[in-house]
Amino acid sequence: MSMASIQTFAAPADGRLDAAMRGAFDRDGYLVLEGFAGADDCAALIGRAAELVAGFDPDGHRSVFSGADQAHARDLYFRESGDKIRFFLEPGACDAEGRLTVDKARALNKIGHALHDLDPLFAAFSRRPRLAGLAGSLGLKQPRLIQSMYLFKQAGIGAEVGWHQDATYLYTEPQSVVGFWLALEDATAENGCLLALAGAHRGPLRQRFRREGGGLVLRDLDRTPWPGGPPAVLEVKRGSLVVLHGLLPHASGPNRSPRSRQAYSLHVIEGTARYPADNWLDRAALPPSGFA
Ligand code: FE2
Repeated sequence: MSMASIQTFAAPADGRLDAAMRGAFDRDGYLVLEGFAGADDCAALIGRAAELVAGFDPDGHRSVFSGADQAHARDLYFRESGDKIRFFLEPGACDAEGRLTVDKARALNKIGHALHDLDPLFAAFSRRPRLAGLAGSLGLKQPRLIQSMYLFKQAGIGAEVGWHQDATYLYTEPQSVVGFWLALEDATAENGCLLALAGAHRGPLRQRFRREGGGLVLRDLDRTPWPGGPPAVLEVKRGSLVVLHGLLPHASGPNRSPRSRQAYSLHVIEGTARYPADNWLDRAALPPSGFA
């Protein structure tokens, strides 16, 4: 398949968007900045993730990864990951007893959700002036780095991610979350690149994922359906940064190809906005910092 004709821009050195970039982001709800990170940066982040995986002991988490009767342990492991570095498996990567059925380096779906605070390399990358400049030019006055994820999208088994808005998971009043999604490898339709409904960030927030009675629930806020029409297929080169408006519906397909599609995702909210205590992601014990 040839590269889809999405609009891209060369990443500005100081991260600050010009009028054309700002216009594209306001129109589409996403923005692709090519060359935001260098090949060496991508290789360093991939290498660091591999080191973290090497230090991860899946046998120590069997109760978390085993079948449906362990749903509580699995939920707890996820629910308490907001201020930790934790490892999440692809569905089907382990048996009913929680033993991996593939090598651990091929079994992981993601690492989350505080790499940007707890790992020195990810912390330094996440606080580059270029990213701070970008956040500032998007209008964030007191940006707070709230969440990070290392996304593997493994060759052959990488699962799809369904249509959603990031504000569902990182809810603030007023809405403020912005996603920074860095392609560490070329992302294509074949290996599960991002898909987005261009312009649909102007619609309402449909759902909220929150703590309720000791569990996590997805609550409907507005049943307006996603707008029709084909999604934009965000095929991007390694080193490209995709900026995602918090209300933009986006997804990614499964990866049935022989190549992984690794990416690093960082979410930033406005520090002056209200971050409700019942948001799923709990940062009370480790309040999110800014870029400085
Ligand atoms: Fe997302």
